[in-house]
Amino acid sequence: MASDTQPATQAEPRKAARAPAAASAQARRPTGGARWIVPAKIVVFIAAWYPLARIVLFGVTDRLGANPIEFITRSTGLWTLVFLCVTLAVTPLRRLTGVAAFVRFRRMLGLYAFFYATLHFTTYLWFDKWFDVAAILKDIGKRPFITVGFAAFVLLIVLAVTSPRAMVRKLGRRWQMLHRSIYAIGALAILHFWWMKAGKHDLVLPKIYGAIMVALLGWRLIVWMRERRVTAR
Ligand code: HEM
Repeated sequence: MASDTQPATQAEPRKAARAPAAASAQARRPTGGARWIVPAKIVVFIAAWYPLARIVLFGVTDRLGANPIEFITRSTGLWTLVFLCVTLAVTPLRRLTGVAAFVRFRRMLGLYAFFYATLHFTTYLWFDKWFDVAAILKDIGKRPFITVGFAAFVLLIVLAVTSPRAMVRKLGRRWQMLHRSIYAIGALAILHFWWMKAGKHDLVLPKIYGAIMVALLGWRLIVWMRERRVTAR
């Protein structure tokens, strides 16, 4: 190639001239163009279907237990929570490892959380309440664990609807503020799980997920407070 064969003295200014263009391209793609991202995204995309595939497999092999509706409701609820935790773990992971490319998985993971929440809600709406809107509204008003679960789901709908890139551009700074409601969703999801299991005197899992959520949200709070202190100085 021409530049490789040229003396360093002639090649350097050209390299320097190309550098700002390369930097601005990098700025547009802040995570760089690491080659592993596309195959890794495909793996994550396929792996995220595992919870649904498991339900379908158990369904066709008659292994959903004595109460299949309860099995599906609980399984989809738990996987919604898992995807919420994984989505919330992306930023701490990026900051702690310095691998900026992790952020490119966040939207897909968040959308899977929404997908499983939709299945969870649909199971309740269809097989538990048989589309009886009056009974659902009564349930939302009467049972606190349903009230907070529903609030989390409504917020998730808002985030899913505003997740396309076009919406990010359209909403500007407001998009970032809106998407901070993911923290509220995390807290409401734990409350939903906690209240539901408290009635059954079985708080082992809610305590584990609660501790994970406190760690994920607490880490953010500490980083935010540190940055505020630095800015104030
Ligand atoms: C972000 C939203 C939500 C999350 C993360 C979530 C999560 C969960 C979890 C983790 C469980 C317990 C699973 C287990 O027992 O292992 C659960 C159960 C349940 N959730 Fe949700 N949920 C959400 C929204 C909703 C909504 C909107 C409704 C209905 C309006 C709902 C209704 C239920 C019901 C009926 C149960 C099962 C109760 C039982 O089996 O006794 N959830 N949910």
